[in-house]
Amino acid sequence: MILGIDIGTTTTKAVTIENGKLTRKVKTKAVDAVTAATGAFGKIVLENGIDINLIEKIKITGAGAGKIKNDIFGIPTDRVNEIDAIGIGGMFLSGERNIIITNIGTGTVIIEAGDKGISHFGGSGVGGGTILGLAKKLLPTAEFSGILELAKTGNMSQVDLLLSDITDTSISFLSGENTAANFGKMLDTAGPQDIAFAVINMVYQVIGVLSVFAARARNTDRVIVTGNGSNNPIGQKILSGITGMYGIKFIYPEHAEYTTAVGAGIFKT
Ligand SMILES: Nc1ncnc2c1ncn2[C@@H]1O[C@H](COP(=O)(O)OP(=O)(O)OP(=O)(O)O)[C@@H](O)[C@H]1O
Ligand SMILES: [Mg+2]
Repeated sequence: MILGIDIGTTTTKAVTIENGKLTRKVKTKAVDAVTAATGAFGKIVLENGIDINLIEKIKITGAGAGKIKNDIFGIPTDRVNEIDAIGIGGMFLSGERNIIITNIGTGTVIIEAGDKGISHFGGSGVGGGTILGLAKKLLPTAEFSGILELAKTGNMSQVDLLLSDITDTSISFLSGENTAANFGKMLDTAGPQDIAFAVINMVYQVIGVLSVFAARARNTDRVIVTGNGSNNPIGQKILSGITGMYGIKFIYPEHAEYTTAVGAGIFKT
């Protein structure tokens, strides 16, 4: 059994890999990397009654992995580059190759993975952390579930300047309901629901369009979406609007929040 641990900026994920299969997973949160890694280790072992003698290796990755210099509890511990981990994990969970992977975590990283290897295409500081940070100052809640609940009934035309606000005609493939400027209108009547939706909308529009450009540059029409941000129903709806405009499909593999941990676990070191 191999244990893959992804010490992310916000959350730490741990998975077990047995005979090349993902068998168990846990998510946890901690303030420092050592507590995060040992906490995730303890959680997956205790919650599942795992005999630790069966763990041959631990493979750690993610922003905090560099802080763990030694073996964890005497079990051989390897470090895996995060870009490789996302690439391998994204191909494994989606069953696809020669693809763009957009990992929406605290920030966003875009990776190309396939027969020619795995490489860092680029990314953006816009991600899940942007939603939480803006919510702290703009919304009555910065709890993720609370933000989503508010956004469900939000009206984006209260906040965003839409194309229909500035012109009567469509521009190229854009129609009246498309955003001309995120937060470019912000009416006095805009309420928390509207602002919550507009924050999520801005983040996923930016990520979506960057992903489209990456996919087009690499001649593919498929983008695998991973990270905790893949699990956001409103975000998925916004990305499907981008598919409607640009013809690029967004694919959400099962267990996509664990992609980086899974990729570390199955990476051959
Ligand atoms: N239930 C949830 N609880 C906390 N955060 C959530 C939840 N659902 C979605 N998120 C979002 O997911 C983001 C964290 O995603 P993820 O765990 O993939 O990132 P990370 O791996 O910690 O960071 P990075 O990969 O950028 O280093 C948070 O910023 C938050 O906006
Ligand atoms: Mg991550």
